[in-house]
Formats: sequence, structure tokens, C-alpha cells
Amino acid sequence: MPHPSRPHPSRPRPDLALALVPRPGRLSSRPGRFRLDTTTRLRVAPGAERAADLLRGYLTPATGLRLDHADDGTFVLALDPALTGLGEEGYGLTVADHGVLLRAARPTGLLRGVQTVRQLLPYEALAGRPARAIELPGVEITDVPAHPWRGMLLDVARHFQPVSYLHRFVDLLALHKLNVLQLHLTDDQGWRMPVAAYPRLTEVGGRRAESMVGPAGSDRFDGRPHGGSYTRAELAGLVAYAAARGVTVVPEIGVPGHVRSALAAYPALGNRPERRLDVWTHWGVCANVLGVGDHVLDFFRTVLDETMDVFPSPYVHIGGDEVPTVEWESSPAAIARAAREGLAGPRDLHGWFLERTADHVLRAGRRPVVWAEDGAAPPPGCTVMSWRTPEHAWAAARRGHDVVLADHRRVYFDYARGPGPGEPPAQPGHSLGLRTVYDLDLLPPHGAPEPAGKVLGAQGQLWTEFVPTPDHVEYLTYPRLCALADRVWNPDRDWPGFRARMDGHRARLTALGVPHDTLPDRAAPAPA
Ligand code: ACM
Repeated sequence: MPHPSRPHPSRPRPDLALALVPRPGRLSSRPGRFRLDTTTRLRVAPGAERAADLLRGYLTPATGLRLDHADDGTFVLALDPALTGLGEEGYGLTVADHGVLLRAARPTGLLRGVQTVRQLLPYEALAGRPARAIELPGVEITDVPAHPWRGMLLDVARHFQPVSYLHRFVDLLALHKLNVLQLHLTDDQGWRMPVAAYPRLTEVGGRRAESMVGPAGSDRFDGRPHGGSYTRAELAGLVAYAAARGVTVVPEIGVPGHVRSALAAYPALGNRPERRLDVWTHWGVCANVLGVGDHVLDFFRTVLDETMDVFPSPYVHIGGDEVPTVEWESSPAAIARAAREGLAGPRDLHGWFLERTADHVLRAGRRPVVWAEDGAAPPPGCTVMSWRTPEHAWAAARRGHDVVLADHRRVYFDYARGPGPGEPPAQPGHSLGLRTVYDLDLLPPHGAPEPAGKVLGAQGQLWTEFVPTPDHVEYLTYPRLCALADRVWNPDRDWPGFRARMDGHRARLTALGVPHDTLPDRAAPAPA
């Protein structure tokens, strides 16, 4: 619901420029406004075509304006590799009454600039409703992101989401200049990634009989089957849609734990091939993990090859989290394998399995990503995502690994947005208000040496055990994603300024149908 003191969306706001999220690095207001009308033409430099298409895609449906190219167009999209200091994603934007100049050194920078233009539009234009006058306020902006990995994970394994919704999810990431969607495609409770050589992965692994009601350990189930999987064409379409917005879709195929759906489809992958398991209907950490025979490694090489075929992302996430070793410790085959590989014992098969898998990804010319959940050395060549504590990221960075911060106490959006009452069931343990997310820190603790250049960025996570619908996805994601986006784009922390900008940005979210009410803020630090 709109806040009573919030300005009406259609009323011009003198401080509109302040309402950009994330906050541009440098912004000053200029006199004048640029009006787009039927005479407006774009001057599209070679290499700027994708940005022009994206801009038209946002503007034309709302305004009817075609914004064709003309060599003397007053809205200029310029690409100049000689522009220094803008990197891959930076851009400059000048809006004056006689014209607009959007410029970047690289095409992706123009895509980021288009999102700024989109945020400067009248809110009605965002809603797809005809606006009375399409005007942009006079501004001068120079804007470069602080971090190259600005991500959001969506878990489509616990609850499947249709690909049409994934398009919307990606477009809203792009609006906030996030540039990575990590798609959590496989888990104990469902397998969503099509693999031609192994159709049972989706046919059998893609459905479960019912779902647990309540958190891990509950004895209640809903009795409702749940399932779904994507086609290759749908995923390829998603990748293209995201690329048009400068968003990379990073696929996650987790091994050697979180694989019960694969074990249900192909029991020979397990530690007891004669055993028949169902696709898991519980939440929590499943004790069933992959067997360690060569046929299992080969199977997952095939799965990863197809995944890399569909997803051109330079990064491929291979999981690695929450791997109970009880099955290996009681399996003669696993014990023998550990001995043959010269490992101290079957527990070390966890690192061994990940190393083999990471090696396959590296040989394909991609970069494997793994979850870190202790201070142990990650496999060579892996980018590390820390989720339990940033300490694991710093430890990995000191070992020379690139790291992405994904601390559950800051950026796990499956926790409730506040302590309630009235909040829907969520992952128990913490609640994360907007302030807690905003206080995300991308630097090592005070006094610790900075692992220069090793922090790629940060990523929010939406695990979906308790999140069945797109509406619920958005309820939990927004407005917390706005705080994440602000922190990971702009290194300067300014909570009062962020709150003020959010007051304006909320009208944009309303226009786009994104929920954004905020529970009362608590300045309390995140729970330890
Ligand atoms: C995780 O939350 N197990 C990555």
C-alpha cells in the first residue's frame, strides 16, 4: 500500500533525481528538461544497437513513440572505447533541454545507462500507461559500479517458477543494475534442468509427491504434488532475454550433496544402487549424497556439458555445500575409493569430488563457483561464495580465490522481513529488515589486510522452501533487493540518503506492480 505521505506518482517531484536506486557515483541536476515526442529520433552509434533496442522496448509500448534512428537525432547513444575510467559497465548521461547524451566505453555500460533513463521517466511510463508528457529531468551523471558481481540467486528447485516469471525477475534485477541471476536449478526436492542424455532427471526428478509443511523436522505434509522443469528452448530464451539487459544467468548444478532428485531418477548414482529413493518431500539437509564411482563423475560431466551448452556464462556454480559424509563412511566402495586416491578417509571425498567436478568446468574454459561453509581450502581455480560468515570469504581470498559475499545474516531473503506478527511463514532463525541488508559490508573487518581485487561483489539469495508463488517471491525480495543493489553498486554507505531515495523509488515499484511495504525499521545489528 502506498504510504500516506508519499507523493502522488504523477506529480512532478523536484527531487526526482535523488530517487535513483542504486545511487549514481556522481550526479548533479541541470536546468531544463528533455521532452520526448513524435519528433524525437535516436542517434545510435555502431555497437549501441542493443541499448537502443532495450530503450525502445521500455518506451515504445508506453508512449507509442517509435524513436527511430536518425543521423541528426537529439537522443544520442554513443560508444567510445577511448572513454577512460568507465570500465565494462560505467556510463555517462547528460540530459539537457536540447538533447540527451548517453555514452559508455563498452556496450554493457550503455545498458546500465538505459536503466537510469528508465528510472528518470515519469512513473506512468513504467506502468505502461500513457504518460501526459514524457520528460526527463536535466541531469549530469557519471556512474561506475564498485563491484563486477552484483547477483541474486533464485531457487527454482524447491518451488518451480515458470519461465515467464523468470523474465520479469530478470528485468527487475536489471532495473536495479544487478547483473547476475544465479539459477538454482537442482536440489533434493526437484530437478529443473533438461539433460537430453538423461531424461529421467526431469521426468522423475522434476516432481515430488508432496511438500513438508513448516520448517525442517516438521511431521506435517501438504499432500499436494509439485513439479516442473524447463525446456532447452525456454532456458535459451531466458539467457537471451537476460543478455539483452546485461544480466548473466549463472546456472547452479549442485554436487555431491543436494542430489536426492537425481538419485530418485537414477539410483545407480547413489552409494547404494539397489535402493529406491523418492524425490525428497522434506526440507533440511538430506543425508543422501552421490556415490564416488567413475560412472558418477562421467554422468555429471555430461550434465555439466549440456548445462554449459545452454548457459554461455563464464561462471558455473557446482554447489558443494552441506554434504553429510555418513553414507561414504559406511560404504565399502567409498572407503576403497578414498584409499585409492590417497585421501585420509572417506570424509575427504567431499573435496575430492568437488575438485574433479571443478576440473571439468575449468577444462571447458569456464570458472567453477562453490559455496564455502568452513575455512577449508576450496578446490583450485574456484570462485568462492561464502554464506555462513564472511570470514570464509576472507580466508579464501587470502588463499588467492575470487570471492562473492552471500552472508545469510545480511542477504538471505528467505528469512522474514521482520519479527512479525503477521509475516508469512519463512525460514526460521533470523529476520532481516531493510537496514540489516543495507549494512552489508564488502570490506574485511577493520584492520584486516584487504585482499585487493579478490572481492567480486555480493549476492542475495532467495531459497524457496516457503515461497511457492511469484507474488511471494516478490514480497520477500523487495524492497530488500534495492538495499543490496545500492550497496554493491556504490561504495558509499548513506542510510538516510537511501531511505529518502526509496521514498521516490517506491512509486516506481508501485508502477511496476512490485510490492515494497517496509516493516518498521530496526537499527539493531544483524544477529550473530
Ligand atoms: C546454503 O545456504 N546451503 C548455500
